[in-house]
Amino acid sequence: QNLTGKTAFVTGGASGIGLGIAKALLGAGMNVTIADIRQDHLDSAVAELDGGDHVLAVRLDVTDRAQFAQAADAVEAKFDNIHILVNNAGVAVVGPTELATFADWDWVMGVNVGGTINGIVTMLPRILAHGEGGHIVCTASMSALVPVGMTTIYSSGKAAVTSMMECMRPELESRGVICSAFCPGAVQSNIADAAKTRPAELADTGYAEADKRRASGGNFMHLYQTKEEVGQRVLEGILNDELYILTHAEFLTGVKERGEAMTAAVQTHLPENPEYKETFAMLFRNPAI
Ligand code: NAI
Repeated sequence: QNLTGKTAFVTGGASGIGLGIAKALLGAGMNVTIADIRQDHLDSAVAELDGGDHVLAVRLDVTDRAQFAQAADAVEAKFDNIHILVNNAGVAVVGPTELATFADWDWVMGVNVGGTINGIVTMLPRILAHGEGGHIVCTASMSALVPVGMTTIYSSGKAAVTSMMECMRPELESRGVICSAFCPGAVQSNIADAAKTRPAELADTGYAEADKRRASGGNFMHLYQTKEEVGQRVLEGILNDELYILTHAEFLTGVKERGEAMTAAVQTHLPENPEYKETFAMLFRNPAI
């Protein structure tokens, strides 16, 4: 698949993983829009990308639907059709589930899940309308597949966006739009700074103490993959039409164990009913195809 001259839109594209993906797509010859809530991140990312006329930076809060449509209009005005959407903007809270406030849930779900929904509703009709094919990638997380403790809000939101890609993939594949869930392990980024963009009306957090304790617990960033490494991994996943774009061999055992546990839980001692399978397939066929 030749990406040269096509256009990508990367949310949260001005830092960390999004910037790494933007770099890789730019390197593949694409026009790239980085959309981000932080102007300082946008300014430094434009300098780092050094892509001249092939880069557009737009200020966007992914939770703002009107802004999202305006951003899409601005991209189409500059580059014409949008081909690749990367729903990557994300924030996190970490700590015991019982300490979570409604505001903790609303903020993280609003950006990570709501922002992805806004990306899909804004961009999918545009991508289908031009008929040149496209790709939607959602940055989920390895924690969506191999749950770790203390990340209930974050990981369940990442599982939701993974599921969106799994559901949309068979629906859209034959119409030339490929969907991928990108599930990385730890990556060098500024996500620890995410609270700086937390809206005042959602400031009430149950994790102030947990955050302080974690901040004094040491920095392990040097052990993580770089944004360039994961950016290349996403480019490879796009070029290979991969549904699951995964990283980090350290998680292989966890991924396998989860798959095996689910396989073992299916009621294989009961006979399959072929009529049930056919009905199911018929009910969920897309009338648009
Ligand atoms: P980052 O903080 O370096 O980059 C995220 C960017 O998103 C920032 O520039 C931030 O300003 C922007 N952003 C935050 N809220 C936004 C909003 N409402 N609207 C628009 N932009 C917004 O963090 P990182 O780590 O690169 O995160 C990118 C994605 O990768 C997130 O979805 C995160 O959950 C996911 N992820 C990160 C991992 C890691 O180890 N860093 C591992 C697995 C997934």
